[in-house]
Amino acid sequence: MIRRIWTLLKNWRAAKSAFSTLSYVYGEGNCYMDALGGLSEAELEGLLSWLPATGTLVEMGTLFGLAAKRIAEARPGLKIVAVDNFCWNPFGLPPALHREFTEKILHAELKRGQVELCAMDSDRFRATCAFVPDAVFLDAEHSYAAVKAEIDWAKRLGVKTICGHDYGNPNPAFGVTKAVDEAFGAVEVRGMCWKGARP
Ligand SMILES: C[S@@+](CC[C@H](N)C(=O)[O-])C[C@H]1O[C@@H](n2cnc3c(N)ncnc32)[C@H](O)[C@@H]1O
Repeated sequence: MIRRIWTLLKNWRAAKSAFSTLSYVYGEGNCYMDALGGLSEAELEGLLSWLPATGTLVEMGTLFGLAAKRIAEARPGLKIVAVDNFCWNPFGLPPALHREFTEKILHAELKRGQVELCAMDSDRFRATCAFVPDAVFLDAEHSYAAVKAEIDWAKRLGVKTICGHDYGNPNPAFGVTKAVDEAFGAVEVRGMCWKGARP
C-alpha cells in the first residue's frame, strides 16, 4: 500500500490528470467524451461533413486514435496522418504506454496503411512535413500560440479544409476561439468543432 502511494506521489502530474478526469465524469460531466478529450457523436458528424473523400488529412493530436478510427471508417479513400507527442491523456498513462494503447486501437488502420502515426511534437511535424495536406484537424495543444502557429502553417501551405476542436471551450487556458476568430472571416461550428472559412 505504502509503495503504491509512493508511486502515485512520484507520478503526481499523471495521477492528477486521472483524478481530474474521474471527478469530472462523476461530477458535472454531461458528456463523458468532454472529460476524455474526445469528440461527441454530433461533433464527429459535423467534422465528417467537412472532410474530403480522398487525399490526406493531418490530425494534430490523436490521443487514442478514436476520431482517426471513425474518420478512416467513414472515409476509406482518405489517408490520415495522426500526429501526437503523447504528452497528455485523461488516464495519466505514461507516454510509452499511451502510444502503445493508441497503436492497439489503430491496429487495423495502421496495418492497412490508411493511418500513419507520427509520434512527434506538432512543431517538429510542421517543420519537417514534405507534403500539402488536403485537410487538417487541429486538436493538440490548445493554447493561443500553439493553435495560431498551426493555423498559420496550414494557411501558408494553402490547405483547403482547416478545422479543429475546442472552439468555445470555457477553459481559461484554451486560446482556440481567439486564434480561430483572428484567422478566419467566418467560422462554422458543430459543438466545439470548428471549420474556418477563407477571409
Ligand atoms: C484532446 S486530445 C486529442 C483528441 C483526438 N483528436 C480525438 O478526437 O480523439 C489532445 C492530444 O494532443 C496531444 N498533444 C498535446 N500537445 C501536443 C503537441 N504540442 N504536439 C503533438 N501532440 C500534442 C496530447 O498528447 C493528446 O493526445
